[in-house]
Amino acid sequence: MAPSTTSKKGGAGLRHLLLLCLILLPSRLSQPLPAPSPSPAASPSPAPPTSPLSPFNDRLEAAYIALQAWKHAIIEDPKNLTENWCGPFVCNYTGIFCTAARDDPHILTVAGIDLNHGRIAGYLPDHLGLLADLALLHLNSNRFHGTLPGSMSHMHLLFELDVSNNLLSGAFPSFLTSLPSLKYLDLRFNRFDGELPDGVFGGKLSLDALFANDNKFNVTLSSGTLANSTASVIVLANTELTGCLPPTIADMADTLVELVLLNTSISSCIPPEIGKLRKLKVLDLSRNALAGELPESIGDMESLEVLNVAHNQLSGVVPTSICMLPKLRNLTVAGNYFCGEPVSCLHVPLRDDRMNCIPEWPHQRTHEECIAFEHRPPVHCGANGCILHHPL
Ligand SMILES: *[C@@H]1O[C@H](CO)[C@@H](O)[C@H](O)[C@H]1NC(C)=O
Ligand SMILES: *[C@@H]1O[C@H](CO)[C@@H](O)[C@H](O)[C@H]1NC(C)=O
Ligand SMILES: *[C@@H]1O[C@H](CO)[C@@H](O)[C@H](O)[C@H]1NC(C)=O
Ligand SMILES: *[C@@H]1O[C@H](CO)[C@@H](O)[C@H](O)[C@H]1NC(C)=O
Ligand SMILES: *[C@@H]1O[C@H](CO)[C@@H](O)[C@H](O)[C@H]1NC(C)=O
Ligand SMILES: *[C@@H]1O[C@H](CO)[C@@H](O)[C@H](O)[C@H]1NC(C)=O
Repeated sequence: MAPSTTSKKGGAGLRHLLLLCLILLPSRLSQPLPAPSPSPAASPSPAPPTSPLSPFNDRLEAAYIALQAWKHAIIEDPKNLTENWCGPFVCNYTGIFCTAARDDPHILTVAGIDLNHGRIAGYLPDHLGLLADLALLHLNSNRFHGTLPGSMSHMHLLFELDVSNNLLSGAFPSFLTSLPSLKYLDLRFNRFDGELPDGVFGGKLSLDALFANDNKFNVTLSSGTLANSTASVIVLANTELTGCLPPTIADMADTLVELVLLNTSISSCIPPEIGKLRKLKVLDLSRNALAGELPESIGDMESLEVLNVAHNQLSGVVPTSICMLPKLRNLTVAGNYFCGEPVSCLHVPLRDDRMNCIPEWPHQRTHEECIAFEHRPPVHCGANGCILHHPL
């Protein structure tokens, strides 16, 4: 598995925790709540006479219906997370977090669900759409199968959706591209397939992070695909990409911080416009069929810390400008056909240049392999980023 995709998981987890903490701040829970509910009829039994935290309302009732339907759709719950999902006060259920409604501080609503690492088996029922106030849905590392119900299109406040590492399948849930508040979308390690729609990268959606790696998605790169994205992190590793890295990749210069296109079968040149991504810290284009030379302009990417272009068919000399980048600490160019590397590269703290054609340098390809490569038809790069092969 890709180190860069896994390391991300930890960082994202931390962010989730922070966001959850924000929602769970005691002040937010205690302040806006009304005094005893005016409808004690809802709890006829020997329930506590005055319960300041018992605001039963229509939205919590809807949430109750949704969560009971969900509980019925669960066939295995090895950690017993949903064991206490009984009774009308859903805010006390494990993994359910309530807060005052965005539009009415006197109403308690379900704002967050966190069942991460529950190993729960089951499916996501249509009733889930009743959770219209949900801002965070974290279902990472469970065994939910089926797809995301279309009723989730009612979740107008949904901000973070993490369903990574489940058994979800089917086409990309198209309603996701019109969820107005969605910022963090994590679908990685599922069985989704089909084309990833262009709308994921732009249109109505303005994601901050997109993790679609390790599914069976197909992505067709065109000049408009990535260009409109506002995301700071895009990970499409282990996914089938067709088309070429478009020069319009530069349009993401104001926002993009991490781009991981590892093992995507992309067969393309690296357009020089990529150098305009001044905020990019991590660029992983390894294990593809990229050809041509590394653009000198990568030396303009002043924030770059990690560059991995290993296992492609790149040639020429590694540009000095890249090794002069002030923050570069990990440079991996192994498994290409580079024929030279400037001395300045020796100062990059972590460097892997094995299996190239650098003369009199250790761990290089055989002389025969390098000669054979030199006899291949030369690669020319088109203005659209595509490889133009000379006719034989
Ligand atoms: C879950 O509940 C069942 C039945 O009450 C019990 O046997 C099992 O040990 C519980 N598992 C955990 C992880 O608490
Ligand atoms: C929720 O849980 C708390 C703490 O266990 C308890 O005091 C309270 O009565 C419960 N509320 C309801 C409505 O069940
Ligand atoms: C996805 O790409 C693979 C390989 O290129 C192809 O076999 C498959 O038919 C494509 N699927 C779709 C839905 O486009
Ligand atoms: C990208 O933005 C351009 C210009 O704003 C627009 O014409 C195009 O439809 C957008 N593409 C997508 C996929 O949203
Ligand atoms: C590369 O991606 C393909 C799917 O496009 C996947 O089947 C394969 O396992 C991946 N390779 C590695 C080493 O992860
Ligand atoms: C450096 O980059 C390579 C390739 O991306 C990766 O395998 C390695 O773990 C990285 N090293 C560190 C310390 O980040």
